[in-house]
Amino acid sequence: MPTPRHATPRRYLMCPPAHFEVTYAINPWMDPTKPVDVPLAVAQWEDLRDRYRALGHTVEELIPRPGLPDMVYAANGATVVDGRVLGARFAFREREPEAAAHLEWFRAHGFAHVREPVHINEGEGDFAVTASYLLAGRGFRASPLSHGEAQEFFGRPVIGLDLVEPRYYHLDTALAVLDDAADEVMYYPSAFSPGSREVLRRLFPDALIATDDDAAALGLNAVSDGLHVLLPQAATGLFHPLRQRGFEPLGIDLSELLKGGGSVKCCTQELRDHA
Ligand code: ARG
Repeated sequence: MPTPRHATPRRYLMCPPAHFEVTYAINPWMDPTKPVDVPLAVAQWEDLRDRYRALGHTVEELIPRPGLPDMVYAANGATVVDGRVLGARFAFREREPEAAAHLEWFRAHGFAHVREPVHINEGEGDFAVTASYLLAGRGFRASPLSHGEAQEFFGRPVIGLDLVEPRYYHLDTALAVLDDAADEVMYYPSAFSPGSREVLRRLFPDALIATDDDAAALGLNAVSDGLHVLLPQAATGLFHPLRQRGFEPLGIDLSELLKGGGSVKCCTQELRDHA
């Protein structure tokens, strides 16, 4: 018998891909010589937004700015836990101005505890929240020093995880939280150093382990509300194991946004307002 699962209402921040393009390459998925179809990107993104709303979640929208094509990956702009907002500081110059746009949004929307970070961190790209921990990736983007900064700010134990595969440059490309009321995750071991794999095995002995193919379809770039797991539809191998665990997988087609190296989770920042 699978574990009974319950969805809880969520609040997300998303940014429409009105100015999406691939004009630079800061991860191995990006190829500036490949054309992108902006109207299709917008339609796919709207489908994801509307699915969240149909599931009863609230979606806030950040106004996209021209010249910031990666702003659609809203997960990177901040990390919000218990209503406390740790802003981002981007690793690449191309994305730097996104951080201020997010900080402005939080200040204008009544968030009292907003911190502009000292150290480089790309929001939920490298931070993931489980019941007991703040998991924190490093190796390609976030500075290891951002881990201590986040631990001090949120008062949650930070578990540093070393990413070693350039295609899985952010933690959210290699690991997804399935149940944040428990410590339930799925991940792709090969994206992590041997020591970090051992840490994940110890903390999450029952984790769902993704195959090479599902990781390569960016299947771990998923968002769960405790019951529904929205994930790239090409990650077909994950659907059955998710159902076996009592989850309802929902395949999403974000093929245009994959050209920037992101999918469902990258487009979705969770506003964990409540303590
Ligand atoms: N092109 C973006 C970058 O390389 C993609 C970010 C994807 N976001 C994520 N949360 N992994 O920065």
